Amino acid sequence: MEELLKKNTILQKCWVWNDTVTNFVKGKIQGKSLNVCAGLNPICDINMDLDPKDKSILKGDMRLLPFDSNSFDTVVSDPPWKIGYYERFKPFFECVRVCKVGGRIIYNATWIPSCPSGDVKLIDVYVRQDNDFSNTSIICIFEKIQDNPDYNSKQELQLSQDMRGKE
Ligand SMILES: C[S@@+](CC[C@H](N)C(=O)[O-])C[C@H]1O[C@@H](n2cnc3c(N)ncnc32)[C@H](O)[C@@H]1O
Repeated sequence: MEELLKKNTILQKCWVWNDTVTNFVKGKIQGKSLNVCAGLNPICDINMDLDPKDKSILKGDMRLLPFDSNSFDTVVSDPPWKIGYYERFKPFFECVRVCKVGGRIIYNATWIPSCPSGDVKLIDVYVRQDNDFSNTSIICIFEKIQDNPDYNSKQELQLSQDMRGKE
């Protein structure tokens, strides 16, 4: 198999952002920032992943973020794209929960998320394609326009129960 590789072939995990995408996202980050599925790109003030690849990255789950509600000005997430339809909701709602009102969520996926409660406004949509004829993903930029205290308190209760379980 190796002999099929061309001289200029770059070997890297296919889900890692290239420099163009990384710089584009970096340019959209403002204020205190969180990267939820950091992978190999710890570009925010706090970077998290379920499977941290280096010591600068915290271990955490996108389905229940270990942060207080309304803590960040920018929340970046590039979740695994192969998750099922019903697994897509919670990770986005968590990004919205930990983002401050007036802050932004930068989400890279093959779907466009939303909040039925109207907590976010979709500001910009960019189609990302790395090569001609290759599959695309979408980088969505949302503004958080209102808070959802009922949702926040349920998640924060779950978080404190999880923490107590770990003690
Ligand atoms: C598409 S990759 C992110 C790639 C990243 N943008 C980069 O440039 O390296 C998705 C990442 O989500 C992580 N992940 C998978 N399930 C997760 C979960 N439940 N919570 C947090 N991170 C998760 C994976 O370990 C992987 O690093």
